[in-house]
Amino acid sequence: MSSLWQGEVVANTAVGPDIYHLRLRTALPGPRPGQFVHLRCGSSWDPLLRRPLSIHDYNPARQELELLYQVVGRGTAWLAGRRPGDFLDGLGPLGRGFTLPPGPRVALVAGGLGIAPLFFLARVAAAGGYQVTLYVGARSRDGLLRLETLQGLAVEVQRATDDGSAGFAGPVTSLLARHLEYKQYDGIFACGPRAMLAEVAKLAGQRGIPAEVSLEERMACGLGACRGCVVALYGEDGSIAYENVCSAGPVFPAEKIVW
Ligand code: FES
Repeated sequence: MSSLWQGEVVANTAVGPDIYHLRLRTALPGPRPGQFVHLRCGSSWDPLLRRPLSIHDYNPARQELELLYQVVGRGTAWLAGRRPGDFLDGLGPLGRGFTLPPGPRVALVAGGLGIAPLFFLARVAAAGGYQVTLYVGARSRDGLLRLETLQGLAVEVQRATDDGSAGFAGPVTSLLARHLEYKQYDGIFACGPRAMLAEVAKLAGQRGIPAEVSLEERMACGLGACRGCVVALYGEDGSIAYENVCSAGPVFPAEKIVW
């Protein structure tokens, strides 16, 4: 179920290079990790000013929605200028979220801003008794976002940076591949650049581990209107069908995607 709402800005702070953490007070009907909201990023009613942003966390007791976003254009630059007490207009939660497996051991793989939805999934899975390992990759330590907030939760964090400034030196998928040689997982969940997702899908497929990936980086209007987010998927009979990421996803079983 989705709804239109207004949210009051509680905080909107820079947490990395052009990356902001936005807290909004609003009552949402049961958001799931992997879903997104569609936020109006401008002061006119032009629908093109809306941006799809994945839900970074939601606290129902405080009615507080958290979003993590990067300033990449006019809309997100406007959003970065919002201050506590301002009101924002939103729609959601929208889209298909992650589905946790019956088994207890899960690996989450985040590349860059892919931590945005996986943070929510890590927290919900840990609260539900899952054994959570969160693999986080970035170019350098500056790009490892919000990990301090997971301290105190039952989440094992494994870091990887391209320049070796924190954790494993190299792609996060290389770190995952090493661990998969001796660690067992009942499900793998990933969000990040497409090449990283394709590699996660390959690693999971080789070991027969169910995997889901979030393709949110491909979304534009977020409304099913622009067809700018189409993805090719394998059907049951091996035929190929095309779906909108924003309405059929953004989360898909990894083996269904035509990489
Ligand atoms: Fe426009 Fe999906 S983002 S149709």
